[in-house]
Amino acid sequence: MADMRSLEDLFHETLQDMYYVENKLVKTLPEMAEKATSPELKTAIEEHLAETETHVDRLEEVFAEIEQEPEAKRCDALEGLIKEAQEVMGDIDDEKTLDAAIIASAQTVEHYEIARYGTLACWARELGHEEAESLLQEILDQEKAADEKLTELAEQSINQQAAA
Ligand SMILES: [Fe+2]
Ligand SMILES: [Fe+2]
Repeated sequence: MADMRSLEDLFHETLQDMYYVENKLVKTLPEMAEKATSPELKTAIEEHLAETETHVDRLEEVFAEIEQEPEAKRCDALEGLIKEAQEVMGDIDDEKTLDAAIIASAQTVEHYEIARYGTLACWARELGHEEAESLLQEILDQEKAADEKLTELAEQSINQQAAA
């Protein structure tokens, strides 16, 4: 069965996976921002939440380009990452250590998104969906920038304070 799937089908399925991911993150990121104690971290998460809302819209445009209805397919990978993040955050009392854990969890999610959008942009190119490719590339660039911002915050102070 699996070998009958075309690249077009895989592209569509992975798009449905990411549509689930972005919609879920719109609900999950506010919770993370609320738990963060560093104002810079809070702001970074809130800013990426605003971008994440646009990712949902962009994905809908990609669905339109391939003449499909936007549909979300449950992503177990993301569910696992969120569950793990919640377990880790629940165990920590120290504020700075909590911030370090939030950054680590957020970066794991960003890396998942970066991997997926890198693949999707590549497949869109291969399949000749030019508009989709540029939309996916735009999202990918924002995921990378969000990841870099988190690295910056981690390096700046949060990890050092946790170690102190
Ligand atoms: Fe995203
Ligand atoms: Fe993201």
